[in-house]
Amino acid sequence: MSAAPAERPAAGASGPSPAANALVRMTGSGTPEEHIHTVEGPRPTAGKDGVLVAVEAAGVSFAEVQMLQHLHPFPPRFPFVPGYDLVGRIVEVGPGVTGWKTGDRVAAMPRQGAWQRFVALPAKTLTAVPGELDAAVAVALVANGVTAYQMLHRRTRLRPGQSVLVHGASGGVGALLTQLAVHHGLRVIATASAAKHDAVRRLGAEPLDYRTPGLADQLRALAPGGVDAVFDHIGGRGLDVGWAMLARGGTLVSFDSSVAGFRPGQWFRPHVPALRRTATRFVARHLGLTRGRRMSMYYVKPGPGFSADYTELCRLAVEGVLTPRIAGRHSLEHTARAVRALLDGTSIGKHVLTP
Ligand SMILES: NC(=O)c1ccc[n+]([C@@H]2O[C@H](COP(=O)([O-])OP(=O)(O)OC[C@H]3O[C@@H](n4cnc5c(N)ncnc54)[C@H](OP(=O)(O)O)[C@@H]3O)[C@@H](O)[C@H]2O)c1
Repeated sequence: MSAAPAERPAAGASGPSPAANALVRMTGSGTPEEHIHTVEGPRPTAGKDGVLVAVEAAGVSFAEVQMLQHLHPFPPRFPFVPGYDLVGRIVEVGPGVTGWKTGDRVAAMPRQGAWQRFVALPAKTLTAVPGELDAAVAVALVANGVTAYQMLHRRTRLRPGQSVLVHGASGGVGALLTQLAVHHGLRVIATASAAKHDAVRRLGAEPLDYRTPGLADQLRALAPGGVDAVFDHIGGRGLDVGWAMLARGGTLVSFDSSVAGFRPGQWFRPHVPALRRTATRFVARHLGLTRGRRMSMYYVKPGPGFSADYTELCRLAVEGVLTPRIAGRHSLEHTARAVRALLDGTSIGKHVLTP
């Protein structure tokens, strides 16, 4: 996804010619308005073992907000084309590819490079997408959905009737995690800002305001015996509250450290508390000092498990069990607006780009 030599600013309202590629570049650390730009470039080709996909929808995720602030745990080198995940149709198939053909609808999670009209991808990274799913819904199930699914069903072994604490249930990952947990028969206590509590209640959870000073006491009042799992994307000292809330044998899953208060460029520092606590508690657990509680860190990655779990998520969405909320659909030219909305926390649900 490197810079193409023939790139130029994208055309105005009429957009680039359909034959050309349009791509979004993040040029540095700062505001979306300063550093997110749409340009035109040549259309890529499939390559021997790859395919070329015409993108129907690409996800805008919190990872890109962190990349823009230079606070992502795997910081990119600017300039680059962001875009964690996409859904689209194959328009070209490389000569070495078997199993896929032109017109097939696919999803992929390249982690970078999805914010384009056309994306060249290795065929082995593709997963099929049912034709009846809306593209925005289908892309909301890729990184966000698989993260929620794998944390719930692969990092923990929860039985119906048990209880969980989900942080950020008004967010893309948290809302799906809440729906999956409720579907699994779990009691869900969830944090979100107060303005979004009605939305969280509609998902079937009991909301608490994460800004309340007495949050730990409120949690204890709701679940005096503790909860069986905590899913935390904030990190920092909040991990100690989550750990203290765990019932015997419970699991704390840390899936990011988006705690506020760090300057752009301090990319590793927010993640140190989670790393240190995970290591310490691993040792303590093996010494029998944690009442069977454990802590793990989770990062979604492509691979066979990813494909299988994405397929299951699509099935649940087709059946109406999962209904990812779409906060906005944006043209590539308006990508900065989508990132701004995520940065400001002003919306509920997934922002998607529809090239
Ligand atoms: N580990 C992985 O593989 C993986 C994969 C995907 C995403 N992630 C991470 O997961 C996190 C959520 O992603 P997303 O796409 O769901 O983002 P999102 O849609 O922007 O949601 C963020 C959520 O966090 C909530 N929140 C903000 N401050 C909070 C606090 N102090 N305590 C508790 N909740 C708080 C927000 O609540 P309000 O909007 O109500 O304020 C919102 O519900 C991000 O940090 C992202 O990087 C990790």
